Amino acid sequence: MKKVILIYTSSTGSTEAIAETIREELEQNAVHVTVKDSFVATPDELQEYDGILIGTYTWDGGVVPDEFMDFYEELDYEELTGKIAAVFGSGDSYYTKTFGAALKLFAEKLAEIGAELVLPNFLVDLYPEENDLIAAKQYGKKFSEFLLKK
Ligand SMILES: Cc1cc2nc3c(=O)[nH]c(=O)nc-3n(C[C@H](O)[C@H](O)[C@H](O)COP(=O)(O)O)c2cc1C
Repeated sequence: MKKVILIYTSSTGSTEAIAETIREELEQNAVHVTVKDSFVATPDELQEYDGILIGTYTWDGGVVPDEFMDFYEELDYEELTGKIAAVFGSGDSYYTKTFGAALKLFAEKLAEIGAELVLPNFLVDLYPEENDLIAAKQYGKKFSEFLLKK
């Protein structure tokens, strides 16, 4: 069975709702999923998994939220060649210049340390509506397809 780790943070529940939908879909596709909050996860544990999913909102000025910052910075010391990854989360399009900027920061960092980003960042504006959750389901399905192909 392929193994995925899904690490996320969510201050008001939007990213969490997306994470939950993606998790359910992965499990429906026979993928084993470990879900962790950002503040308890450490980058060294990523080595145990075939796939990595990061879920984050974006904080003030377009940055990674505080509770994800240690993890984000410590990624510099990991090597993720051979792993597939994708990044999702919620932002607020009111912040036109930094809408979803933290997703981009994570995706760039994961690529720098060798992970293969198999899907574009999946960014939802505020709380996910029904169509967003349908898209989240498809996102999870596609991620499992990439995983099972490896
Ligand atoms: C002080 C503050 C600053 C924010 N700055 C940004 C930002 O720069 N870009 C963005 O996309 N969203 C920004 N947001 C919005 C959050 O990312 C958005 O509310 C998101 O839906 C929260 O997701 P969550 O429910 O998973 O925590 C900001 C929110 C607050 C309260």
